[in-house]
Amino acid sequence: MTIERDYSLAAVNYLRLDVKASFFVVADSIDAIRSALQFAHSRKLPVLLLGDGSNVVFTDDYPGLVLKISTKGIKLMWNESTAIVEAAAGEHWQDLVAYTLENELYGLENLSLIPGSVGAAPVQNIGAYGAELKDVLHDLRVLDRQSLSEKTLTREACGFGYRDSIFKGKDKDRYVVTSIRLKLARQSRLLTGYGAVERELQNMRVTEVTGKAIAEAVTRIRRERLPDPSVEANVGSFFKNPHIPVEQYRLLRLKYPDMPGYKERDKVKLSAAWLIDQCGLKGRNCGDAVISPRHSLVLVNKGSAKPDDFLKLKDIIQSRVHEHYGLDLEVEPYLVN
Ligand code: EPU
Repeated sequence: MTIERDYSLAAVNYLRLDVKASFFVVADSIDAIRSALQFAHSRKLPVLLLGDGSNVVFTDDYPGLVLKISTKGIKLMWNESTAIVEAAAGEHWQDLVAYTLENELYGLENLSLIPGSVGAAPVQNIGAYGAELKDVLHDLRVLDRQSLSEKTLTREACGFGYRDSIFKGKDKDRYVVTSIRLKLARQSRLLTGYGAVERELQNMRVTEVTGKAIAEAVTRIRRERLPDPSVEANVGSFFKNPHIPVEQYRLLRLKYPDMPGYKERDKVKLSAAWLIDQCGLKGRNCGDAVISPRHSLVLVNKGSAKPDDFLKLKDIIQSRVHEHYGLDLEVEPYLVN
């Protein structure tokens, strides 16, 4: 295990922010993760866990140890009608999706092409096109950062919500997710209800809707709508979609009849992208940090943006949306302070 000093993080964060970590290490085994944590503990260093860096925003140099998890391995176990797939935290999410589709297993097709690592997926309960990780997660393994012992957490113990889990909330900084186990169907249980997916399947003239067809539709939609992070540096949605009470939505609709809203249990989910658009902010920039002209929820680094450019742009968006609609947009990726 090589521990680097004063290491540039530009290549390991999707915004390509050129900040430095005092210490940086890549761990490709659970023992290596333990050793890295012990190293940090002995020097009283804070530790930042990193997967692929696709959902992290550095606001400055990191005065501690950045620990990149890169454990590998995918295993498949069958029973009569379901399969359990176990994947190590350092696998790329999309490689896991592709693996399940090759094995004709259903449940991840709507989550195609989401950037990031397997270990980061439960932290924010990744979701897209009507599906969320929590719908298919069976359980996961964690390493306790204090005791360095491993244990299993059931799905229920993870406290999943919209882009939320105990790993962001009450148990932030307590665990390292080391692997996840998914319960996938051998029979299709396909979710085509999301408008854009339905339309894309029609455009593709699909006669039989299969898991692979949905994965293809989702991949096409994402490629068309979202800026490709390998071309334009970005961390996907920069804000969460606000969830507001039905009555508040009714009042807003009286004033703004076009405001989109989607009923979800006892709340209405608003479109943060629409709110940003309506404030006339699409394309707005602070230095090289720009609101993507393709999708207003995505902020991109056009070249040499600094953390401060993103923070300023974030503040402008939040205050404009608040002034116009009285709504507070919450940042979605992890802002490292
Ligand atoms: N819209 C605009 N302007 C835009 C883009 C979209 O007004 O520039 C409006 C349109 O009315 C559109 C609606 O927003 O119909 C919804 O857009 P989209 O389907 O792209 O979904 P989203 O709500 O903006 C969420 C997730 C995405 C996920 C998509 C699809 C969050 C924070 N974001 O975006 O997740 O891919 O739904 O399910 O929930 C991510 O987390 O990084 C991410 C990309």
